[in-house]
Amino acid sequence: MCGIIGAVANRNIVPILVDGLKRLEYRGYDSAGLVVIDQHDQLQRLRRMGKVQELADGLVATPLNGHTGIAHTRWATHGAPSERNAHPHISGDLAIVHNGIIENYVALRSQLQTKGYEFTSDTDTEVIVHLIHSYWKNNDLLAAVQGAIKELQGAFALAIIVKHYPQRIIGVRQGSPLIIGIGKNEHFLTSDHLALLSVTQQFIFLEEGDLVDLTPEKLMIYDCDGKKIMRPIKTSDLAQEQATKGDYQHFMLKEIFEQAVASAQTLEGRLAGNHVLISAFGTKAEVLFPKIKHVQIVACGTSYHAGLVARYWLEQYAQISCQVEIASEFRYRDNVVQPDTLFLTLSQSGETADTLAALRKAKEQNYLSTLTICNKPESSLIRESELSLLTRAGPEMGVASTKAFTTQLTALLLFTACLAQVHGQDATTLITALRAIPEQIKTVLQLDPDIKKMATHFSRFRDTLFLGRGVEYPIALEAALKLKEISYIHAEAYPAGELKHGPLALVDENMPVIVIVPNDHLVEKLLSNVQEVNARGGRLFLFADQSINVVAEKNIHIIKVPTVNAIIAPIIYNIPLQLFAYHVAVLLGNDVDQPRNLAKSVTVE
Ligand code: M6R
Repeated sequence: MCGIIGAVANRNIVPILVDGLKRLEYRGYDSAGLVVIDQHDQLQRLRRMGKVQELADGLVATPLNGHTGIAHTRWATHGAPSERNAHPHISGDLAIVHNGIIENYVALRSQLQTKGYEFTSDTDTEVIVHLIHSYWKNNDLLAAVQGAIKELQGAFALAIIVKHYPQRIIGVRQGSPLIIGIGKNEHFLTSDHLALLSVTQQFIFLEEGDLVDLTPEKLMIYDCDGKKIMRPIKTSDLAQEQATKGDYQHFMLKEIFEQAVASAQTLEGRLAGNHVLISAFGTKAEVLFPKIKHVQIVACGTSYHAGLVARYWLEQYAQISCQVEIASEFRYRDNVVQPDTLFLTLSQSGETADTLAALRKAKEQNYLSTLTICNKPESSLIRESELSLLTRAGPEMGVASTKAFTTQLTALLLFTACLAQVHGQDATTLITALRAIPEQIKTVLQLDPDIKKMATHFSRFRDTLFLGRGVEYPIALEAALKLKEISYIHAEAYPAGELKHGPLALVDENMPVIVIVPNDHLVEKLLSNVQEVNARGGRLFLFADQSINVVAEKNIHIIKVPTVNAIIAPIIYNIPLQLFAYHVAVLLGNDVDQPRNLAKSVTVE
């Protein structure tokens, strides 16, 4: 949530800031702004309501130039989206941008008002800049920042400039990600290193509590105790093009079509013959995995749905009991830890505030170990978990998660096979199924034109129900989330057996029902549910195995899905449903990649 970028160099850095903001826009897009120190050592700020392009257009009318600057794209928490609430915020000669939430901002605001500070926004951020200003004595910027952040409660990443030091930026990481980019006689700060790939491949991923003092030539890092420290420099092997749309109209469509390759990457080097390489989960996995009797999965959103699928797999194929919980619930609940339980977090970003808080809580409890399955190598979840498995989906820019989900499922099936193997079962059928995933995805992607056509029959509806049974129920939940997220159509998902316990009352010609119908052991029961809807005049949209004998009629639309191994059916059925949501949203003219009110990386609770 919110994207920060900063640069201190010996050239005009405004184009770098704007380009970086465009790449960070997935983190929030309700307003954007930047501030630079110009050639007269004055702060020059420009802010605009709306997307980064509004700011870029504003810069054409009001060009800015400077060698040092900070910029921000916002996802509103405190204060409505507006120009006055947009960052950067200024106090006297100081300017800051902020990602995160300051929980004690009300008390701090009134203290600062008593001291005479006037507030021009409704944000919690403005408290920070005035607080630093109140500590600003003897031109000692470092001391002012160190003093002020001791008073802040909450999660934040900050970038700060002051006109007295026209070639200097200070950054702070405390609960929200912050990364240094290293150029030749220039330094950068960013919330996501993808934003800087056009200027550098060299990065330092700051640790919790780090403060960094940057000039073009020097960088100094202080840890949470104020001690000077050096962090490792990492070279990114990501190419700039990986974070672009290429020939696709939207990131989401590109990411849907990348899923065959992405799932192959998830498996690469992790299978040997009929075995899962246990070391893929970390050096301690070999010792810890045989001890696992129970798995507790915690995640949010789409990642939570991946966890729900894994529960079916772990219990059916590895005979390991499993609970799955939404992180924002788990973190505040009194929970009982069963002996020998592995605590497993799932996340695309690895920075989701609730999931991270749940992990930190779990580390204080009596879990056997912690494992994260995550897409971001340098993320907080990876760094703070004892064991980890990278999903290797590559950058996912669309706010609606697609390839991250598919690779999470692939990784979770790999994990299931690994536990089955470690606990003395034959994992051969699971491994055969795993190896089939990329090809099956390619096959199902060919349904795209049919799905696009089906979307035209659906897009007029304002509400819908999704039904699935067994392991397809979480896929119904995920499909409903995807549809509501990008099409703004109200969608709910039910296990099909629940239909007659209430939701059937909603079914009429305006409440279409979308049903996932693989040819598995539950198909007859599911087809009875389909008949229950049909008998009441409901409109049906079926994603059904091609071998099942259902016939399209005026009120029944069918996508015939090629027969698939039942083990991987949830992975494969999810893909046409992603395409369906995508095409409906496009037909409705929505901003598919940046749906209203949302942001990609939810780093606040
Ligand atoms: O980065 P994470 O996987 O932890 O994110 C969790 C959710 O915020 C995320 O899956 C969200 O629900 C997506 N927008 C769904 O498409």
